[in-house]
Amino acid sequence: MKNYLKLTSVLIAFVLLTTACGSKKSIELLSPDGKLAYHLQMNEKGQMYYGLSVSGDGMLANSKLGLQLKEELAFTDNLKIVSHSENGVNETWKPIWGPNDTILNQYNQLTVSLLNGTGKELKLHVRLFNDGLGFRYEIPQQNGIDSINIVNELTEFNFVQNGTAWSIPANFDSYEMLYRTTKLSEVADANTPITTKLDGGYYVSIHEANLTDYAGMTLKNMGGTNFQANLVPWPDGVKVKAKSSLKSPWRTIMLCQNASGLVESNLIQNLNEPCAIPNTEWIQPMKYIGIWWGMHLGVETWTPGPLHGATTKNMKKYIDFASEHNIEAVLAEGWNTGWENWGKPKAFDQLTPYPDFDFDEIVRYAKSKGVELIGHHETGGDYLFYEECMDDAFMKLHVNGIRVVKTGYAGPIPNGQYHHGQKMVQHYRKVVETATKYQLMLDAHEPIKATGISRTYPNMMTREGARGMEWNGWSEGNPPEHHVILPFTRCLGGPIDYTPGTFDILYKNRGEYIKWNSNDKGNSRVNTTLAKQLALWVCLYSPLQMASDLVSNYEGQPAFQFFVNLPSEFDESKVLSAEIGDVYAVARRKASNWYIGAITDENAREIDLDLNFLDADKKYIATIYADTENTSLNENPTEIKIITKEVDSKTTLHVVMKSSGGQAIEIKESEK
Ligand code: NOJ
Ligand code: CA
Repeated sequence: MKNYLKLTSVLIAFVLLTTACGSKKSIELLSPDGKLAYHLQMNEKGQMYYGLSVSGDGMLANSKLGLQLKEELAFTDNLKIVSHSENGVNETWKPIWGPNDTILNQYNQLTVSLLNGTGKELKLHVRLFNDGLGFRYEIPQQNGIDSINIVNELTEFNFVQNGTAWSIPANFDSYEMLYRTTKLSEVADANTPITTKLDGGYYVSIHEANLTDYAGMTLKNMGGTNFQANLVPWPDGVKVKAKSSLKSPWRTIMLCQNASGLVESNLIQNLNEPCAIPNTEWIQPMKYIGIWWGMHLGVETWTPGPLHGATTKNMKKYIDFASEHNIEAVLAEGWNTGWENWGKPKAFDQLTPYPDFDFDEIVRYAKSKGVELIGHHETGGDYLFYEECMDDAFMKLHVNGIRVVKTGYAGPIPNGQYHHGQKMVQHYRKVVETATKYQLMLDAHEPIKATGISRTYPNMMTREGARGMEWNGWSEGNPPEHHVILPFTRCLGGPIDYTPGTFDILYKNRGEYIKWNSNDKGNSRVNTTLAKQLALWVCLYSPLQMASDLVSNYEGQPAFQFFVNLPSEFDESKVLSAEIGDVYAVARRKASNWYIGAITDENAREIDLDLNFLDADKKYIATIYADTENTSLNENPTEIKIITKEVDSKTTLHVVMKSSGGQAIEIKESEK
C-alpha cells in the first residue's frame, strides 16, 4: 500500500509585468523540453485566441478563448492583458494506487490577468507539459460580482490538420455509446475524451481535468476541424452557476508522437490537487466477483422471486469462491428493497435488505472467511432521494465493516437535469466527500466522466462511463474494436470498471433466460475469444477489478488461474504495442513479477513483444494463456492453450492472436 505522498518540487518563479502603457498583445510559453509552444494572442477587438505547435508544426491555431455570461460582464471582447507571470514545476509524487507508483509532474506555467471593458478581472492559467497542454479560466473574487451565470464557454480547439478520430456522441446523459471511427472533420459533436490521429502523424486527445462544480464539457463542430466547448446546460439553459468567483476545469490537450504516449501520459492526474485525505490506510485496491452477471443474462433477478440472485445461500457460495481463489471482495446487487419500483421516484431503500438476504449473517460469514463485501446503491437516477438517505446508507455499510460501495444512476435525473450537468457534478462530488467521511471506496456506474479527481480523493476508485460488459448480456454487444479504442479514449480519464472475465462466451451454460431488456434481439454473446477476456484484466486498468462471470463458469477452468494470480495493485506499467482501434499490449509489474495483456480488434494479428524490461540478471518463467490454432471468434471462441516457458530480458515473445483474440501472460521470477 502506497499510503503516503511524497512531493519534491523545484519552483522557479519569475514575474513579468507589462509596462504601464499599452498591454501585451501576445505571449509565448514553451514546454520544459522546448518542443511544444503555446501562443496566446489578442486581436484588435480585444478577443483572445491561442495556438499550439510542436517543433514548429502548427497543431491548433486561432482557437478562441473566453466566457459569455448572462450578466453584463462578458469576458469575450475588449479584453486587455494587464499582467502575466511564468513559473516552472518539476516534481514527482506518489499516488495511493495506480498503474505506476511514482508520477512525474513537470510543466511550465503561465498565469495571465485580463480586464474586460467594465474593469472586471479574468485570469487564465496555462500549463504546458512535454506531452500536452492544460488551461483553465478563473473569475477571481472582486467588487461588483456577486452572481455568475455562464451561458457559453467560447473555448475552441481549432485543429490545423484533419485526421482520424475516435469519438462518442455528445449525449448529455450517457457515455454508454459505441465509438465512431471517422475523419475528424466528420465529427458533428462528441463527449470527451475524443482522440484523433492527425494526418501529419501526431496523436491528440481533448478532455478536461478536475471537473469540479462546473458543467461537463462536450464538443461541437463549428466547421471543418474547429470544435467549440458546448457545456451541458441546466434546465433553464444556463451552463454554469456560481456566486462570486469560479475556476473552470482544466481544458486538456494531450499531444504525443505515438498512441502509447497518450496512455502513459499523467497530464490529467497532474492537473488535479494532491490527496485531500490525511489517513488513507483504509483505501486498498481489490479484485472482486459478485452477484451481477446472472441478472444481465436474464437467469437471475434483482427483484425477489424464484430467480432472485442476492440470496443468503448464493452470497455464501460467492464468498466461499472468493476466499478459495485469492479474491478480496464480493458484490451483491438486488440485496435491498425497491427494485420492483425501478423507474419510479424514491424507488430504492438503501437500508432494508430483502427477506431472503440475511444481511447480518452475510456480514458475519464474509468476515469469518476474510472476504470483503461490496455494497450496492442503485438510485435509478433519483439523486435527490439518494442525498436524503446517503448518510444513513453509508453509515450502515461502515458500521458493518464494509469498505466499498458501487453506485448506479440508471434512469433519468429528476427535474429536467442531465447526468453530466453542473447539478450532477456537484452531486457526484458530494457522494465522494460523504464516502470519505464513512471511509468508503467508490465504484460509480453511470458516473460523471473521470477527470483525475482520484488524485485528490483516492477513495474514488473506479467508474464505468462507457459501454461495459453488461451490454453483451442483452444487446448486439460491444464489437471487437471497442476494447482497442477504450485505452486511448475513455481510459485516458482514469480507471474503468468494465468488468471483464466472461468465460461462457457463447452463453452455452445459460439455459432458459428471461428477456428483460428491450435491446435484446436474442443474439447476444461476448464478441471476443477467451484469451482476450483474460488480457482485458490487464489492459483495462481498474483498482477494483471484477471477474464478472457466474462463479459456476469458473469452476474447473485452468484459465481462471490467471485472475487468481493477478495482483490487485501494480508498481509500474509499460505500453508494449499500441495502435488505436487495432492493437494494444501492456505490461504491469508487481514486485519482480510482470503481467501482460495483449488484444486485437476483428483482425487476427501477430506481434512481437520484446521483454527487454525484465531484469537482465534474472531468469523468469512465463505462463502464457493464448488463442490456439483452432480458436475462432464465431465457432470456437473459448479454446485456449496454457504454456509455460523460460524467458529473460533477451526474449522476444511472438504473440499470435485470432480475430478479436488476445493473450495474457504471467512472468514470474524463477526460483532456480
Ligand atoms: C447499470 C450498471 O452499469 C450495472 O453494472 C448494474 O448492474 C445495473 N445498472 C443495475 O444497477
Ligand atoms: Ca451502465
